[in-house]
Amino acid sequence: MYHHFFRQTLQSFGLVGLLAGFNFTPTYLHASASSDADALLAQMTLDEKIGQMVQVDSAALKDKADVRKYFLGSVLSGGGSDPADNSPATWKKLTDEFQAQALQTRLKIPLLYGVDAVHGHNNIDGAVIFPHHIGLGATHDAKLIERAERVAAEEVAGTGVRWAFAPCIAVARDVRWGRTYESFGSSPELVGELGAAAVRGLQGEVLGKNSVLACAKHFAGDGGTTNGQDEGDTVCDEATFRKMFVTPYEPSIKAGVGSIMVSFNSWNGVKMHGNKHLLTEVLKSEMGFQGFLVSDWAAIDQLGTNYQADIEMSINAGLDMIMIPAGPGEGHNYAEFIADLKDSITLGKISPTRIDDAVRRILTVKYQMGVFENPWTDPALTAKIGSPEHRAVARECVRESLVLLKNEQQMLPLKKDLKHLAVVGSAADDLGIQCGGWTIDWQGKVGNVMSGGTTLLAALKKSVSTNTEIIYSPDGSDLKSADAIIVVVGEPPYAEMKGDRADLNLAAADADLIAKAKATGAPVVTLLYSGRPLVLGKSLETSDAFIAAWLPGTEGEGITDVLFGDFKPAGKLPRPWPHDNSELNCAAFAAPATSPLFASGFGLTYDADMKPKEFKTAALHE
Ligand code: GLC
Repeated sequence: MYHHFFRQTLQSFGLVGLLAGFNFTPTYLHASASSDADALLAQMTLDEKIGQMVQVDSAALKDKADVRKYFLGSVLSGGGSDPADNSPATWKKLTDEFQAQALQTRLKIPLLYGVDAVHGHNNIDGAVIFPHHIGLGATHDAKLIERAERVAAEEVAGTGVRWAFAPCIAVARDVRWGRTYESFGSSPELVGELGAAAVRGLQGEVLGKNSVLACAKHFAGDGGTTNGQDEGDTVCDEATFRKMFVTPYEPSIKAGVGSIMVSFNSWNGVKMHGNKHLLTEVLKSEMGFQGFLVSDWAAIDQLGTNYQADIEMSINAGLDMIMIPAGPGEGHNYAEFIADLKDSITLGKISPTRIDDAVRRILTVKYQMGVFENPWTDPALTAKIGSPEHRAVARECVRESLVLLKNEQQMLPLKKDLKHLAVVGSAADDLGIQCGGWTIDWQGKVGNVMSGGTTLLAALKKSVSTNTEIIYSPDGSDLKSADAIIVVVGEPPYAEMKGDRADLNLAAADADLIAKAKATGAPVVTLLYSGRPLVLGKSLETSDAFIAAWLPGTEGEGITDVLFGDFKPAGKLPRPWPHDNSELNCAAFAAPATSPLFASGFGLTYDADMKPKEFKTAALHE
């Protein structure tokens, strides 16, 4: 209590920066933001306050005027809520239309538009798509990740969006979990460090007018559920839970993260969205999180059987903004939420103090971001979407994310002037598989998923000499004359619970392709596109060289940079690699009984005498 009062007093006198030496980590540039928020709060009606606590999916807002009618504080585009024409210009028009409605309200409080920009601005056509977090985890490169997220922020802001539901700072402990690829790795320290770097990239050193609001998610324990079941139950004592799943949020809080998304999962049978101890006592009071808590997608509906009781439990637990995907006639919708919440406040089930705290947190973030002064984003940023300098940063991420697991007789790097280079596996020319889930569609999709990307096959064609013949044989039926063979195998795109898998064996068809290639007698390098380590069985033995490429995104030339030795492999495993399905369950959080096939941190490189070509990626910011 006094801590908060003292900070408020300091901030109002702008002294907070002078006391940076104290344990106050000033996270706000605008020392007046909280007093501005208080002044506005004092003018607001209950309806206006409730409206700020509501975030509605754009697909549910059939009538955009409801933004004005209900004083909505935020609109989102969930995984699949893209405008039909998915261009940056159409997105900018869509978000501006919603903002225009918000600015017609009595107090003209701007809204924040949010999207799942989880590996670049992955909802829109032509964006630069970065490696998913598991690949960024393999880079172990916080500075690079900060630069990557700054690029993502520019592309997000280029479409009028100022809020990204990222970084995911899950500590994925069981690779059967369909969201393993959204986690930087299995170590809370690595996840904490890289998550904070992502926050700095999105928001800048402090929340300000160039920030895209970051959203550390999903608090907490999403990556520790039993058997890796998405939205399941994480079972362990509090000390383990804190060490593994709560401490990774500290670096993001220190970096000034302005929002945190609460997780669907439960801890020891209690839903996170109803856990006042963790949300209020631990996260807000003990850890000093000053931003606001947003729910996940209709997550409060899972708390119980009575929606009004769900609302009371979640808001009283510490939720400040509720994500509501449903519109009129679609289940628990935003009009129902607003009526029920007002009713609960009137009945004294939720205190005005709690409502004021929630709204103050939301308004303070909006003031720090300068959206009151400028609710629009810079159209010059729209022009930078998909730009060469943006793609160069993503290409660097791809290069650094690749983990070389095997390189018999130094098969790699390949020569660019090989006579015949065979490429096997349809994934070699499939941008959708290369990008994975959360790409244009929630689940992603195979095929040419978006414009502007470079598949591995296209990158190979750009890299080899003019007298090299590239033989593309997806099914491996035409390999007779190959001097070397690249086999590309992996997982089809998926997201969230759709990716939960109990059997992580490499697909039999993929194993057959590798064996078929090897049978020719030519050296074989296998490239694996996957959201997690897979059980490789004999396929590792059969391959002369093996690269874990994770889900690299649109910049396939980052892979050829390594295959041809212009860049030495630098990636290190961000999590252990299991021998077989019996080693998958790490949810017990104890060290696995048996040693893994490859330990966390494993990664080969080329011989020391390999001279990597110097890469001068344009420094994005001086
Ligand atoms: C999803 C995810 C969350 C995402 C949200 C909005 O269900 O759990 O990561 O940010 O809904 O799309």
